[in-house]
Amino acid sequence: MLDDIDFKDYKKKDDIHGTVLYPAVMVAPVQKKILKDIISKNKIVSIFDPFHGSGTALYEAFEISPEIHLVGCDINPLANLITRVKLQGVSQFIFRDIKKIEDYIKKPDGIYEYSFPNIKKWFRPDITDSLALLRTAIMDITSDRNRLYFWYILLDVIRFNSNTRSSTYKLHIKENDKIESMQNTVIDMFLSAAKMNVNKFKHKSDNFILYKNDIFDIIKHFRKNTFDISITSPPYGENATTVPYGQFSMLSLYTIPEYDLELEGWELDNYSIIDNRSMGGSEKSISLTDFELSLIKDYLSLISIRKQKKVIRYFKDYFYFLRELCRVTKKYVVLTLGNRTVDRIEINLVEITKKFLEKNGYKNISSVMRNIPRKRTPRVTSNVYQKPVNSMNYEYVLIYEKNNVTPDREFS
Ligand SMILES: C[S@@+](CC[C@H](N)C(=O)[O-])C[C@H]1O[C@@H](n2cnc3c(N)ncnc32)[C@H](O)[C@@H]1O
Repeated sequence: MLDDIDFKDYKKKDDIHGTVLYPAVMVAPVQKKILKDIISKNKIVSIFDPFHGSGTALYEAFEISPEIHLVGCDINPLANLITRVKLQGVSQFIFRDIKKIEDYIKKPDGIYEYSFPNIKKWFRPDITDSLALLRTAIMDITSDRNRLYFWYILLDVIRFNSNTRSSTYKLHIKENDKIESMQNTVIDMFLSAAKMNVNKFKHKSDNFILYKNDIFDIIKHFRKNTFDISITSPPYGENATTVPYGQFSMLSLYTIPEYDLELEGWELDNYSIIDNRSMGGSEKSISLTDFELSLIKDYLSLISIRKQKKVIRYFKDYFYFLRELCRVTKKYVVLTLGNRTVDRIEINLVEITKKFLEKNGYKNISSVMRNIPRKRTPRVTSNVYQKPVNSMNYEYVLIYEKNNVTPDREFS
């Protein structure tokens, strides 16, 4: 089914996924190839991505077949906004609204000042002024679809014009001279991106539901066998030491007015709250079964007590999630995974997951390793006992089928 999935020549900038930056996204053509193959051989009514991030898999599913019902979940309101905009696109009056913003910028009729904790650290004063002007112009747009598209376009503009370095997803302040010499491109970058990308958003899916929630609060409410395919890429460890999706998002979340974000109410409390509440970030009252413990105990014996606690906390969440995923999926589970290193010990999430799925009623259709060609997370991430530690350089795609499902045709 998956012979070559490297897609070395794939350039994100050519499709909708290249219109915005989000950490650790899946590779769209890989997901499309898998989904196309499954959809061509089975009657697929619904697809679920429990950690949808920037919506790669859900959008690709929509492109293949707009009739399929899509359900996604993510704890991060920025992921929710990005995926919503990719799926719902813009209205036919988008050019009129771009012109309206241009006119407002030339002749503003008032500006809503805005602020958030530590704004002066992350934006130069002239950048804050330009953002406040643009933000006011966008707030004046009445079409919800177009207004959300404009916030979406603003995301990369915010990041590019902020004082944080582009080399990492963490908020990490640039050197002073770099901050001072930066050009203010807020307005120009926004207007040209809004015009240049609009053709990629001239579609509309009416067939999706996105939950801006912790998946642990949501998944338990779905009935057994609700989704024909579950396709996702879960976090490989707790956000704080792997990928800080929340921290990456905060400057944008503080800039977009709250009424245009899906919020439960706690998300803007501080810069680390989304990461702390994400998978593996906080202790829940979940226990591991003996089988689950047996899958990780050899790794635990090789790492420090302090790190053991974090690893156990992550796996309590991960196994609970997998248990529920097995229950709510009717036909196929497709996972993109990576292995991570703790105290120089590689925790083989891929093997652990395979064993779990095989024990829980699924059989392997395909498992492929993929080289990750370009990564913002450096290949060597940190030093432990003065020795460099490798980060994840490969990702793996696992396709599992629920036992007793008979596809109409065999997989090639
Ligand atoms: C690897 S990323 C998914 C990337 C996505 N596949 C894409 O292509 O953009 C993992 C996502 O899981 C989300 N996440 C982490 N913990 C979560 C939780 N407890 N509930 C829901 N989403 C969570 C993060 O916010 C992040 O967007």
